[in-house]
Amino acid sequence: MQMFRTVCVLVLAGMSFAAVSSNPSVQDEVVADEITPKLIPQPRKVELQTGKHRLTPEFRIGVESRQFAQLGKYLRSRLILATNYDFDVVVGEGWSKVSGLRLHIDERLLDTLGEEGYRLTVSKRNAEFLAATPTGLFYAIQTYCQLLPPEIGAKSVQRGIDWVAPCIKIEDVPRFGWRGMMLDSGRHFFSVDAIKAFLDQMARHKMNRFHWHLTEDQGWRLAIRAEPKLTEVGARRSETPILSDRNNGDGQPYGGFYSQEDVREIVAYAAERHIMVIPEIEMPGHCQAALAVHPELSCTGGPFEVATRWGVHRDVYCAGTDETFHFLARVLTEVCDLFPAPYVHIGGDECPKDRWKDCERCQKRIADEGLEDEQELQAWFIQRMEAWLNARDRQIIGWDEILEGELAPNATVMSWRGVQGGIAAAKQGHDVIMSPTSHCYLDYFQSKNTEGEPPAIGGYLPLKTVYAFEPIPAELTEDEGKHILGAQGNVWTEYIATPEHMEYMTWPRGCAIAERVWSAKDVRDFDEFSVRLEAHLARMKVLGVNFRAPKATD
Ligand code: ACM
Ligand code: ZN
Repeated sequence: MQMFRTVCVLVLAGMSFAAVSSNPSVQDEVVADEITPKLIPQPRKVELQTGKHRLTPEFRIGVESRQFAQLGKYLRSRLILATNYDFDVVVGEGWSKVSGLRLHIDERLLDTLGEEGYRLTVSKRNAEFLAATPTGLFYAIQTYCQLLPPEIGAKSVQRGIDWVAPCIKIEDVPRFGWRGMMLDSGRHFFSVDAIKAFLDQMARHKMNRFHWHLTEDQGWRLAIRAEPKLTEVGARRSETPILSDRNNGDGQPYGGFYSQEDVREIVAYAAERHIMVIPEIEMPGHCQAALAVHPELSCTGGPFEVATRWGVHRDVYCAGTDETFHFLARVLTEVCDLFPAPYVHIGGDECPKDRWKDCERCQKRIADEGLEDEQELQAWFIQRMEAWLNARDRQIIGWDEILEGELAPNATVMSWRGVQGGIAAAKQGHDVIMSPTSHCYLDYFQSKNTEGEPPAIGGYLPLKTVYAFEPIPAELTEDEGKHILGAQGNVWTEYIATPEHMEYMTWPRGCAIAERVWSAKDVRDFDEFSVRLEAHLARMKVLGVNFRAPKATD
């Protein structure tokens, strides 16, 4: 309902503007459509005003307080390359007198705008950015940039562009606090620059949670000082499955890892974009790269090599030896030091129990702890890790398999095998992040016709289906629904080896997810979204993002 009203306001305001300049109604609609901003994600409330705002070289940027001077610089950096206008930034005294762009915080607006909402008022000669927090201002900047011609995203001077935007008033707040993307750096390694580009795109879509999958059977990507072999040995595999035959390898060694400086750089870069980085350190499964270094942490003693085939591997951390937990404590101590986020994702998915069934130590643990079976042993493992992390002020997130046995008391569940896990967790009073394969797996094909498409893991997830996602299942009561923190897209990379391919799989399906988690629930008209998306893709094109243009036949 909210959206329907918003559209009315927007169209009516547009038509009244048109009526000032001419009379026939058909032409009015054309004019209205031309000036109607095509924003993604769609804001809550948009009111078009009469007239045009024109960015000129005389503009200055006024920032009310030193505390968010950085945002003035950021806004300048978003405008200066394409325009070559050398905007002065005035911080503190005199900020409100500048003609141009003014950034201002009013904490009293916390009740209306929350931590992330904003008001943006664009008039002929000025634009006012107002929020209760710097994060809100950051999102106002994203919206302002989308109001300008797409060329504003260019990295070189664009001559002959009239830098106009409609005069407009926008008030906007996100629907969900968790607006995420996951990237699997385990199967394939992506450079620091590629990750920064990914974060930039997330920020432009007002997404705020980067879930970084850092350890896998096929590669351990995070340098740990106390465990240098994890990356000396565990970050390198002897080969990678070939595309045409997944059971055979290409014979080419493959590797890469992030130094702790790299990680700090990425975490800081993300923080400047108001994005939290949540590391994922997989356990008890998906750990063969670690077992290649520490075979004594397995049930059989190995030996192992870093995995060279995809899929689910049987050798997992032995739950019966305390050495496993000492090792994980050494790793997580450094993880907590590197990542300030209040969450650590500890995986928990796809852990076969074959080895535990045959392991004396694991069986002894089951007996000593009075557990029923291996399923309960997995729950015991996760609960032990939760207690360790909770004692260090971190909450755990786990894939929905952590519901099996008994859920760790404070865990947040990431629902991926559909939404049932999320529903069950929310009903138990646990927080949930929705990321079902049915709507959020961006490693799936985006077209029925896969001919001419680059490789994908399989599946079929067209843009329209992503857009139709609803993160709060109808089965939940209003109170239970409050446990749904939001949703995220998952970019698993078994079949994605380059940043170009990663972008191709991510966008524009990521635009649809961004809108699902930011915009009002009833902003769901796919045809209307498609019209906005066309304009939005023009922006991404200028930015050099290798998105996939949707096709009618998808
Ligand atoms: C998953 O896709 N295995 C979480
Ligand atoms: Zn064992």
